[in-house]
Amino acid sequence: MTKCVAIIGGNGKVGKYLVEQAIEKGYRVRILSRNPKQKHVNDESVTVIKGDARNYEAIAQLLRGSDVVINTIGQPKGERSIFAEVTSQILIAMKQENVNRYITVAGGSLTLEGDKKTLINRIGATLFKLLFAKMIKDKEKEVELLKESDIDWTVVRLPFIVDQQEVKVIKEDLFNMPGTKMTSRNVATFLLRQIDNKTYIRKHPFVSN
Ligand SMILES: NC(=O)c1ccc[n+]([C@@H]2O[C@H](COP(=O)([O-])OP(=O)(O)OC[C@H]3O[C@@H](n4cnc5c(N)ncnc54)[C@H](OP(=O)(O)O)[C@@H]3O)[C@@H](O)[C@H]2O)c1
Repeated sequence: MTKCVAIIGGNGKVGKYLVEQAIEKGYRVRILSRNPKQKHVNDESVTVIKGDARNYEAIAQLLRGSDVVINTIGQPKGERSIFAEVTSQILIAMKQENVNRYITVAGGSLTLEGDKKTLINRIGATLFKLLFAKMIKDKEKEVELLKESDIDWTVVRLPFIVDQQEVKVIKEDLFNMPGTKMTSRNVATFLLRQIDNKTYIRKHPFVSN
């Protein structure tokens, strides 16, 4: 049976290509959205669940019958950061619904244990941490929750995302951000590749074009 991918953030800059490419690749797709898009409603390989990712029942419903969760939820402007809260709900729902693969994203400025960032990237990360202290703390908490869990997670750290055509080269690096930008289509491609790839299980790689 074809795998089912549960997607949170499927209307976002990255998420819209994630949904598009997952359908193209023949996956069954379940999308959680507060504002479902009409175009997905009539697609037979897509199930849309209307709801908020902070609502446990909505997450549990999304995960029902899924094999993998991909979360590209964004930070709504002016609202408090909800990344750790959402991931903690996902982890509980994954146990309940028997799902073991979780793929999510973070900014490349998030510095984690084992990183060997260049001086320029360390300066950038420090500035970002000063400007967005609460969000970075929340992302750190999210990664801690994942490390405490026993599921197969991957946190893909991204550079600035541009809405351009897919390009051939995707650079990957476990220790340092290899470039400054990446197309949203390439981000989607990389995230979908992680579904069956074990290389980055329980790891937090950096990617770029
Ligand atoms: N953009 C960049 O340059 C960049 C760079 C590095 C890292 N990142 C990270 O990559 C991720 C994706 O970025 P993006 O630019 O694609 O995000 P985005 O365009 O802001 O997408 C946000 C999506 O999150 C969903 N969302 C927000 N709050 C929600 C809630 N309470 N419940 C359910 N869904 C919710 C929205 O879906 P609905 O409105 O349909 O509910 C929306 O489609 C983010 O975590 C961002 O921090 C982005």
